[in-house]
Amino acid sequence: MNKLALVTGASAGIGFELARQLADRGYDIAGVGAGERINQLSDKLPHVRVLPIQADLSAEEGVEYVWSEVEALGRPLDVVALNAGKSLGGAFLDTDLDEEKHMIALNITSQVLLAKHVVRKMADQRHGRILITSSMSALTPTPYESIYGPTRAFMFSFAQGLREEMREYGVNVTALLPGATATDFHQTAGMGNTMFGSNDWKNDPALVAQRGLDALFAGKDHVIGGDRRTRRDALLKKFLPEAVKSRQFARDSKPNQ
Ligand SMILES: NC(=O)c1ccc[n+]([C@@H]2O[C@H](COP(=O)([O-])OP(=O)(O)OC[C@H]3O[C@@H](n4cnc5c(N)ncnc54)[C@H](OP(=O)(O)O)[C@@H]3O)[C@@H](O)[C@H]2O)c1
Repeated sequence: MNKLALVTGASAGIGFELARQLADRGYDIAGVGAGERINQLSDKLPHVRVLPIQADLSAEEGVEYVWSEVEALGRPLDVVALNAGKSLGGAFLDTDLDEEKHMIALNITSQVLLAKHVVRKMADQRHGRILITSSMSALTPTPYESIYGPTRAFMFSFAQGLREEMREYGVNVTALLPGATATDFHQTAGMGNTMFGSNDWKNDPALVAQRGLDALFAGKDHVIGGDRRTRRDALLKKFLPEAVKSRQFARDSKPNQ
């Protein structure tokens, strides 16, 4: 029997590529998405067994439902990609607080809730690999996306700490930090009227997922998801002062009048 991988946000974008490439590596897939389209995942990955799980991960019941579906399979869980996430663009002065609370619930709270189940199962198994999608936004202040960046910084830091704790259980944790990637992500975030509105210049989600999985299977602590230019940009971010990075980010993220 194939090994089993759980991928959240598997219906689209980076998560779909993670699921597709894990299937190509011979993993059966439990794939989570909020909307109906997750149910098409089986047709897209006909060469492996697929369990589509439609659930709203921003709600605690959604997380518990996902976990109950995974447990009902009664199988070891070999790979987990905690990937589902969203953003919200605009000035913090104007953005809707309920939307921000929803983003925090999805990008942070749900990840912690699901990770709790996952690490306990993997510790019992004494093996497993966890890929946590953070972002290059974890490396800079993110004005006009001012809550999103901190949610990704949380996940980067969480991944690094968890990695150290889980080493003695034979479980590897890797953080994936994509640069801007050509998915629906920025449109969904209402950032169509910013530099991020066009997908023309962004990274290919297939490349981002491939770099994440290569790093996960190589046991690396983190990896930048993107092309050479993206990786050079990430290196620069290590040296630039926060104020400079913040101003640079605002140039790209501030909505055009
Ligand atoms: N794209 C970028 O530029 C970029 C850069 C850095 C980091 N990232 C990170 O990469 C991850 C994936 O982003 P992406 O670009 O692939 O985004 P995307 O194309 O918009 O896909 C988002 C995925 O998450 C799922 N999802 C959204 N809300 C959900 C909810 N409440 N419950 C369950 N699933 C939900 C979506 O499912 P449905 O839509 O089917 O319901 C979809 O499968 C995110 O964590 C993001 O922070 C993205």
